[in-house]
Amino acid sequence: MAVTLQVNGATRTLDVPPRMTLADALRTQLSLTGTHLGCEHGVCGACTVLVDGAAVRSCLMLTVQAEGSSVTTVEGLSLPEGLTPLQQSFKKHHALQCGFCTPGMITTAHALLTHEANADEARVREVISGNLCRCTGYVPIIEAILDARAAYGAGET
Ligand code: FES
Ligand code: FES
Repeated sequence: MAVTLQVNGATRTLDVPPRMTLADALRTQLSLTGTHLGCEHGVCGACTVLVDGAAVRSCLMLTVQAEGSSVTTVEGLSLPEGLTPLQQSFKKHHALQCGFCTPGMITTAHALLTHEANADEARVREVISGNLCRCTGYVPIIEAILDARAAYGAGET
């Protein structure tokens, strides 16, 4: 089936089997392998991308369901000149070890802070609890997200 969507700001038309997930299409057809696949059934959050600004588990979404949508992957949240403030914060706080969960952490945190720049620790913990990390424990991840809030306008009125 032909599916036309925006991916990281570019219009893409894909020819996909009806049951191909968005995660598989991003990885195999567009080589956007920053979107990771862990559990493949909606539990781990590694595959999180933004669909029309909302954090979505791309292993649970069929590509055909993304027709006409705007999809942003972790690659689309990067800057050509270097790390984004959120990425810098993950680095500063040592919020990753193997990094497998990190793309999903970054996309989830970006969606949260875009809509709730003043999110407090309890809110960050609640939202990021849907992203599983086997390595770090969550303290550095929480600290990194909280520290990145200013870059999203936290504290501004
Ligand atoms: Fe999608 Fe785990 S791979 S939630
Ligand atoms: Fe390894 Fe999170 S850094 S799973």
